[in-house]
Amino acid sequence: MPENLSLGVCYYPEHWPESMWADDARRMVDIGISRVRIGEFAWSRIEPSKGDFNWEWLDRAMDTLGQHDLEVILGTPTATPPKWLIDAHPDILAYDAEGRPRKFGSRRHYCFSSLTYRREAARICTLMAERYAGHPALFAWQTDNEYGCHDTTRSWSPEAGKAFRLWLQDKYQGDVHALNTAWGTVFWSQEYTDFSQIDLPNMTVTEATPAHLLDFYRFSSDQVVAFNRMQCDILRAATPDKPIIHNFMGIYTGFDHFKVSEDLDIASWDSYPLGFLDVAPFPLEDKHTYMRQGHPDFTSFHHDLYRACGKDGRWWVMEQQPGPVNWAHHNPAPLPGMVRTWSWEAFAHGAETVSYFRWRQAPFAQEQFHAGLNLVNNDEAPATPEARQVAAEISELANTPVTGKAQIALMFSYEAKWLFDIQPQGASWSYWGLVLTWYGAARRLGLDIDIISPDADISAYKIVLVPSLPILPDGFVARLKNSKAHIILGPRTGSKTEDVQVPDTLAPGALQEVLPLQIRHSESLRDDITLDGKFGASDVGASRWLDHVATDLKPAAMSDGTGLLFAHNNLSFFTTVPDGPFIAQLLAELCTEKGIATTLLPEHLRIRRRGDVVFAFNYGPDGATIPDNIRSADGALVFGSWDLPAAGTACWRST
Ligand code: GAL
Repeated sequence: MPENLSLGVCYYPEHWPESMWADDARRMVDIGISRVRIGEFAWSRIEPSKGDFNWEWLDRAMDTLGQHDLEVILGTPTATPPKWLIDAHPDILAYDAEGRPRKFGSRRHYCFSSLTYRREAARICTLMAERYAGHPALFAWQTDNEYGCHDTTRSWSPEAGKAFRLWLQDKYQGDVHALNTAWGTVFWSQEYTDFSQIDLPNMTVTEATPAHLLDFYRFSSDQVVAFNRMQCDILRAATPDKPIIHNFMGIYTGFDHFKVSEDLDIASWDSYPLGFLDVAPFPLEDKHTYMRQGHPDFTSFHHDLYRACGKDGRWWVMEQQPGPVNWAHHNPAPLPGMVRTWSWEAFAHGAETVSYFRWRQAPFAQEQFHAGLNLVNNDEAPATPEARQVAAEISELANTPVTGKAQIALMFSYEAKWLFDIQPQGASWSYWGLVLTWYGAARRLGLDIDIISPDADISAYKIVLVPSLPILPDGFVARLKNSKAHIILGPRTGSKTEDVQVPDTLAPGALQEVLPLQIRHSESLRDDITLDGKFGASDVGASRWLDHVATDLKPAAMSDGTGLLFAHNNLSFFTTVPDGPFIAQLLAELCTEKGIATTLLPEHLRIRRRGDVVFAFNYGPDGATIPDNIRSADGALVFGSWDLPAAGTACWRST
């Protein structure tokens, strides 16, 4: 089996009698699984009371898995501080935005700012690292589990308050007047004379000042970075050659994942396509069409995002949905074939490992309804034959190349998301909506896309999509000037300073050095209002936002006499939120100019290249035909068929 394509599973030996472990391991290998993640919630079994350790069961679990040549990803158990620890140190608890401590009784109840918890987490990580550093089954570490899950990045605890004040003193170099100026506290008499007076921005009568909120969001993100770094330092010191991984989430932006990933070797995420379709803000029509498949672009967007996070593009799916989940509003079952298709879509985007969650459905506690590869009684669940098929197909793809750099990049900014949460200026404004529309338009044209951070080097790309970047990072305009790429800038780009203020030169701020246009005023629109426009000879649609500009440039698209799109040298600038076909038309024209081939794919079909291997995925409820012009020259397939059934996957070599 190629090493860079492997299957894994999440396993909880502590949930099952030890007499089952060896058979579980044997059956994992039989399916074609080679990696197993364990341990991430096991603290109460490792240390049932302070200093009273019981490592032996975990030793035996590691031994059993190792005896079957399974490679173990061992999770540090810090997502679930045990009861005795919380009782001894209630200052570990996170507080909600209403200022109430979150209680023990589920998970992720700790505050990232608790110094007691930093110490305790370091203690358990150190002991675990020392104990298993030399274990032959240890393949990698997972730090904690899903930072931020259940909305836990931001804590409004007294501990967070103390840490925030220190963070502010550091940021403003001890100068409270600098903070007053940055935050604009003269407004509504909010001025401070000492850092000790500053509180967390919750429970205010109406909104807190936006810069106070944004600094709190930045601080909270930095606390996750610091907590993860503490664990990585310990693990790396004990096992310099073992990769360190964290499992991120979907549609979660509470902290900057690019920054947390700087300390990791491999980024991974937990992919639950049906759960996310149900909870994410997709139109009802999409929720119906893709109910059993997941949205065709949502999962792949995250694959590309986390590929951007991992060192040298190394990334995994640590938890892959195998059937109904338990946590969405509604939890349908996937179409037969979909678990296989999700697995291949991940590999197509460059995943090294796809690991199913979980081995066996739990008969007790919170996740009883969550499917696994096995039913509670140990019969195989519907996902297992599909996993077995993926394992067999993997062996047909020997020497699978790694994913190369794409020609097109899309810039994703966590800070942009925070800023729009703080000051949306229109209930229908949606950063996710904007980003996914632009990404989806490119995918529909059959393009591979790299996601990049706002600080990324853009020199190697031919086209860069920036759906919106209100605060321009240092050096951004210089990078635009030096880039040969065509850069498409979305609405509100350059509209704020680092301190969430209107630039002295008005929006789009420093962009005016390269784009002769100034925004005089902006309006937000209801999402049921459409701006009908003309782009060349085509009718186009836009919505939600409209900037009114002063410029000598002639609009490239307009509606009712107002410019929707302006172009200048290698820049295109939207003053509105273009709909999918509008952005797709601009993109297709630019691709033609840049010599990048596009194919308008059937509505529910998507493709992705991994080196010379091309994959196609059918997310539609019915069959779909792969267009002739993208098929292999000799008509040969590695697997699948040119007429793909619903939930089908095919793969061929382009050379
Ligand atoms: C993830 C989490 C797992 C499990 C799973 C259920 O968010 O990491 O522990 O709860 O969801 O889908």
